Amino acid sequence: MKWIKYLFLATASLVLAIGCASQQPPSEPAAQNSPAAPRGENVVNLYSARHYDTDRVLYDNFTKETGIQVNLVEGKEDELIERIKSEAANSPADVFITVDAGRLWRAQEAGILQPIESEILESKVPEYLRDPEGRWFGLSKRARVIIYNQEKVDPAELSTYEDLANPKWKGRIIVRSSSNIYNQSLVGAILAEKGAEQTEEWVKGLVANFARPPEGNDVSQIKSVAEGVADLAIVNSYYVARLANSDDPEDRAVVEKIGLFFPNQGDRGTHVNISGAGVVVTAPHKENAIAFLEYLVTPEAQTIFAKGNNEFPVVEGAKLDNPFLEQYVPFKEDDVNAGVVGKNNAEALQIMDRAGWK
Ligand SMILES: [Fe+2]
Repeated sequence: MKWIKYLFLATASLVLAIGCASQQPPSEPAAQNSPAAPRGENVVNLYSARHYDTDRVLYDNFTKETGIQVNLVEGKEDELIERIKSEAANSPADVFITVDAGRLWRAQEAGILQPIESEILESKVPEYLRDPEGRWFGLSKRARVIIYNQEKVDPAELSTYEDLANPKWKGRIIVRSSSNIYNQSLVGAILAEKGAEQTEEWVKGLVANFARPPEGNDVSQIKSVAEGVADLAIVNSYYVARLANSDDPEDRAVVEKIGLFFPNQGDRGTHVNISGAGVVVTAPHKENAIAFLEYLVTPEAQTIFAKGNNEFPVVEGAKLDNPFLEQYVPFKEDDVNAGVVGKNNAEALQIMDRAGWK
């Protein structure tokens, strides 16, 4: 029986290695040097929804330090969750990496992550950016900020997310659709703070101030504000930083027309969300998986991981190697637990639907 199990695992690994089962007949003998090796081998298999070249550098550094080979499977966030679910007990996945607390919470609820105990992770990752049971850990963070057209808005007029429902902003705000998880998490965070009734009132006021029905992604909101289509937008900080750090002068010109504002600095702080990871419940290389996550919270890895997507490190003291973002740190962050925000996503969406946020 043992060889059958081995053959099965090796075949699964081969599928992982080439990323597409249809390219490989099932009868193909398992390659001994298959990049995704079976249990016992010195590897870690990552299922990642992050696709940055800098992440690759990080994985190579980890291999150099530990001798553990990193195999990468990239995919869309929700597809990777589905894939791990359908692979079930035979999943080669050791570590699941994704963005947004909403998705980490979904992965946790889908039962694909296991609680792990690590003094290193618990001491390095702030409590509000990780699952209290250790099923996932925030590894970098992004802020959902207000951007404004510099010719039309004096930043002294801006204060809080709540104030965006003020009638003074009528016809002046744009934001992407409520189907977007970043907006669901933002409303989820406000829900945690204000409760359902006040949150719905707020969303109604915000929707009443929209300059147009929601369309496009965060980058298109930024460009529209720069072009004067609207005065304000709510977007993730890394999209602005990405344009500011772009090699394309047109991208940088967009950022010159706008300002970045971190709301709620006088009370609970700006809503932050995370890129994060957890150890898969069926991880064939659990110890390597934990070693990998522990590596990602070293100062060196934190800087590279955050820089890859123009995010902020989560570990105190890790260098933010990003001159554009440096001008905004430190800022006060809403420290509601990311898991609460993730859990609130579904109710947030219902509220947004009722309030007419398309
Ligand atoms: Fe994004």
